[in-house]
Amino acid sequence: MVDIHSHIIPGVDDGPPQIAEFIEMAVAAVSNGITDLIATPHHMNGVYENPKEKIRNAIRQYQKYLQNEGIPLSIHPGQELRLHRDMFKLFEKEVLTLNDKGRYLLLELSAGGVPPNIHHAVYELRLKGIVPIIAHPERNKGIEEEPNLLYELIHEGALVQVTAASVLGNFGKKAKALSEKLIEHHMVHFIASDAHNCSSRGFSLQEAYRRISADFGRNFTAFYKTNAEALLMGEKLEHQEPVPIRKKILGLF
Ligand SMILES: [Fe+2]
Repeated sequence: MVDIHSHIIPGVDDGPPQIAEFIEMAVAAVSNGITDLIATPHHMNGVYENPKEKIRNAIRQYQKYLQNEGIPLSIHPGQELRLHRDMFKLFEKEVLTLNDKGRYLLLELSAGGVPPNIHHAVYELRLKGIVPIIAHPERNKGIEEEPNLLYELIHEGALVQVTAASVLGNFGKKAKALSEKLIEHHMVHFIASDAHNCSSRGFSLQEAYRRISADFGRNFTAFYKTNAEALLMGEKLEHQEPVPIRKKILGLF
């Protein structure tokens, strides 16, 4: 099983502070059924700076630790890039696509809302042949207020990742309800852990897939798993046409 969004590299962001917690997280990932994990340290979020070369080097180093410990987990380079006005100025030098394949980029919106330049950013990325993946929109105030912004962004060429813990209700009722509506309306393409530790923000990918299979059918889980595998290989993926959400149905207003 492939997890496309996680914070497992120690000491670079709000993930594990030391190598001991890194090992603990790696063991937890394996127990959760994960074989391949894309490490996505924050970049340009106003607190953490993790340009691509730093991440590539860290992955090489920490993969060796896993081998030495005999932990059967492959870690891959990635980055969670905050939508930032200077992101295109520093793009070639600092930005890292998922698994370094040059095809998919994990894009984080600011917590408070959706900046209007998101449409321009998606357009510019598509011109570069890169598919932006909007990270956890179900936890974003702007998307909560106007979920059909995602419908527009998907039409503009973006894809969407929802967090496993949101599906399970660990980020509250609103995030859970919105996750379900987005899944139902074909506006989700990936489920990922966004794990930061082994306690409050661990791996619960297996549990989320089980819940999705029970609530929406196994086809949805199969679709998300296949997409994560395709992403890891840098392959193109097919998806269904999204359906706009009618506000009355959403039940959050
Ligand atoms: Fe994250």
